[in-house]
Amino acid sequence: MSKIKPAKGAPHARILGVGGYRPVRVVPNEVILEKIDSSDEWIRSRSGIETRHWANDEETVAAMSIEAAGKAIADAGIAAEQIGAVVVSTVSHFSQTPAIATEIADKLGTNKAAAFDISAGCAGFGYGLTLAKGMIVDGSAEYALVIGVERLSDLTDLEDRSTAFLFGDGAGAVVVGPAQEPGIGPTVWGSEGDKADTIKQTVPWNDFHTGDVSRLPLDSAGNIKFPAITQEGQAVFRWAVFEMAKVAQQALDAAGISPDELDVFIPHQANVRIIDSMVKTLKLPEHVTVARDIRTTGNTSAASIPLAMERLLATGEAKSGDTALVIGFGAGLVYAATVVTLP
Ligand SMILES: CC(C)(COP(=O)(O)OP(=O)(O)OC[C@H]1O[C@@H](n2cnc3c(N)ncnc32)[C@H](O)[C@@H]1OP(=O)(O)O)[C@@H](O)C(=O)NCCC(=O)NCCS
Repeated sequence: MSKIKPAKGAPHARILGVGGYRPVRVVPNEVILEKIDSSDEWIRSRSGIETRHWANDEETVAAMSIEAAGKAIADAGIAAEQIGAVVVSTVSHFSQTPAIATEIADKLGTNKAAAFDISAGCAGFGYGLTLAKGMIVDGSAEYALVIGVERLSDLTDLEDRSTAFLFGDGAGAVVVGPAQEPGIGPTVWGSEGDKADTIKQTVPWNDFHTGDVSRLPLDSAGNIKFPAITQEGQAVFRWAVFEMAKVAQQALDAAGISPDELDVFIPHQANVRIIDSMVKTLKLPEHVTVARDIRTTGNTSAASIPLAMERLLATGEAKSGDTALVIGFGAGLVYAATVVTLP
């Protein structure tokens, strides 16, 4: 017989507030075309992207997170001291240790909240949300903050025509807290490490550090290139289109939601053609609002789902209480899908 008392958390968890931060600088495709042989028409038609935001020196990972999280906390109607845990998903915070989450938790004014970073690429928001739900139901935290934040412009090779136009910067955050009814369904998640090479950093930090020009990529001026994200676009595209629609369907089934009962679909914003293909495969009815935030935001990895969620609510395209399917997928390869009630 275990001597440990049963958990005394909330019966269920839900998202109580959402907030986003988009860097001030808007970058149109014309700027991308300065360094690659392409066209505005090609970028729009192959990816759906028209503009993206790039962060300036002041718009750091911490600064953008604090802005987005502050809005999410206000939206949830709670005080920062009530936050018991801060989970930050990012791949573009360049200090290995300590986690940036601790600085964010402190600057937000939490009361020594548990704080840590996770690395789950473009599935990071779903991974963080799953952890947060567990904490609330378990009683380890009354409220948890999940932040997805990226400065992917720092990890973009502007001379690589297969990726230069894709990525953007920004932060999205949600507050997860107690609920009387289920507000976050079971997560369908996983990893396919056998495909790890399809999205990766061009050069690991330790190789970059050696400065050995014989082993490092050089730019057109002969300078060593900073490490960047590279991908096998077509392979990832095919995987996303064929495999992720199945995962999305499994998340609907796990939550007991039929496509007819769904109000909103917020997939990771990687490519508008992937989004359109998933809508078709899932046979989502006309009434379902589909996030296509990629047009003006680009791919912001872990930030893309909460940013898209915030925008749909802000523009009135979605409303509080709507039932939404969210799915993230990317480097790893990893994925996470779940059905949530919108804040
Ligand atoms: C990157 C991506 C937009 C490229 O689109 P695509 O339709 O697959 O393009 P392809 O790589 O097949 O290239 C098609 C053609 O366009 C050319 N091309 C590639 N990049 C180009 C560019 N920026 N401008 C113009 N032409 C380009 C290619 O050379 C190729 O020419 P070819 O037919 O003469 O050989 C797409 O593969 C994609 O979105 N992949 C998945 C991204 C994703 O989900 N990532 C998740 C990471 S988080």
